[in-house]
Amino acid sequence: MSDSPAASVPAVPKSAPAPAPLKNVLVTGGAGYIGSHVVFVLQQTRRFKVISIDNHHNSHPTALKRVSELSRAALGPNPTEQDIQSTEVDAHACDLTQPAQIRAVFEKYGKGGIWGVVHVAAYKAVGESTEIPLTYYANNVGATVSLLQTMADFECRRFVYSSSATVYGTPPIIPIPETTRLQADSPYGSTKVMAETIVEDLCHADPRWRAISLRYFNPAGAHPSGQIGEDPRGRPGNLLPLLAHMAVGRIKEPTLKVFGNDYPTPDGTCVRDYLHVMDLASGHLLALEALESKSNIFGANAKAHFKAYNLGKGKGMSVLDIVEAMRKATGFNYGLEIIGRRRGDVPDLTADPALAEKELGFKAIENLETMCRDLWNWQTKNPKGYAAED
Ligand SMILES: NC(=O)c1ccc[n+]([C@@H]2O[C@H](COP(=O)([O-])OP(=O)(O)OC[C@H]3O[C@@H](n4cnc5c(N)ncnc54)[C@H](O)[C@@H]3O)[C@@H](O)[C@H]2O)c1
Repeated sequence: MSDSPAASVPAVPKSAPAPAPLKNVLVTGGAGYIGSHVVFVLQQTRRFKVISIDNHHNSHPTALKRVSELSRAALGPNPTEQDIQSTEVDAHACDLTQPAQIRAVFEKYGKGGIWGVVHVAAYKAVGESTEIPLTYYANNVGATVSLLQTMADFECRRFVYSSSATVYGTPPIIPIPETTRLQADSPYGSTKVMAETIVEDLCHADPRWRAISLRYFNPAGAHPSGQIGEDPRGRPGNLLPLLAHMAVGRIKEPTLKVFGNDYPTPDGTCVRDYLHVMDLASGHLLALEALESKSNIFGANAKAHFKAYNLGKGKGMSVLDIVEAMRKATGFNYGLEIIGRRRGDVPDLTADPALAEKELGFKAIENLETMCRDLWNWQTKNPKGYAAED
């Protein structure tokens, strides 16, 4: 038997390496439909501390309270102090069109204190943008410039931008690759093209910037718990929430007006590429991870660290497909009235999502049935949206 002390002294158990500290990530528009799901997905990693800026122009503070509740409920037994912290949002009720208000938030965290920004906040109604274009340019372009300037001042140069398929206008090729020329058909679309251009120019001017523009196709559905979802102020501008509001009785119209059934599509109605909002939200996490210096999406000799990706399923669904799927999910018997085409509507917006899959590892896995089920679950649990709790 060995009498060496080493043999008799029990080995000191190796303690697990301390987890890396949380990275502060600012999500603008964090209380909105997409923003709240993005915040949830970031919190699930337990690697980020989310800061939100939202002026609640089109959202309710309750959304972020619910996100935190969901995240806390998902914590395992004996969470660390850091895990608990990751479920809390630093929510700032301020307006991005006011540069001093943006600066005040960055000052709170100091130089280098915010690791990256996911810029989701914007106005998004195509029709409204044709009526009040200056308001749209000020909010979607002017505020983006102020945000980028403040980021530069505080040495924060990682940026994920919420763009849209609308940047393609009427695209010449379906499914739409990212190489398609950008040619928006509305002031809203132009704000998205302009903001993308500004971010790309910035990345060309200064190689320290790393930015990804995510061109969303048609997000739909809600977190499967039904605790968070889409709750626009006023009449919904998008088809799925409109159908949900009709079925729940919030809009007292049994008949849906269908804008045109003579498009060159299989059933004559417009075709869009719907993806589940949870899939879309996961794309933001992948994009943030791709902004880490070890990622090589930009290539070793890139002149600028800027990339744009389509986030869609790559599968087109018509207005009639959507109505049928919602009829199945809700049991509501929608009447249909075919009226003339609406100005500015494009027959088909279906993504080619191959680049995002190859470079980011993104895949929108959920199907239309799940999107409608989760939307209806959210709507029936919250027939009046968040308003009841504000
Ligand atoms: N929902 C879609 O179908 C869709 C499709 C493509 C792209 N997008 C883009 O995704 C983003 C989010 O869309 P959403 O559907 O979540 O919209 P949303 O209206 O639910 O969310 C936007 C949020 O930004 C906030 N906001 C707007 N202006 C602000 C300002 N000046 N200061 C602070 N907060 C402000 C709003 O209050 C809201 O909470 C937008 O940039 C939109 O253009 C949306």
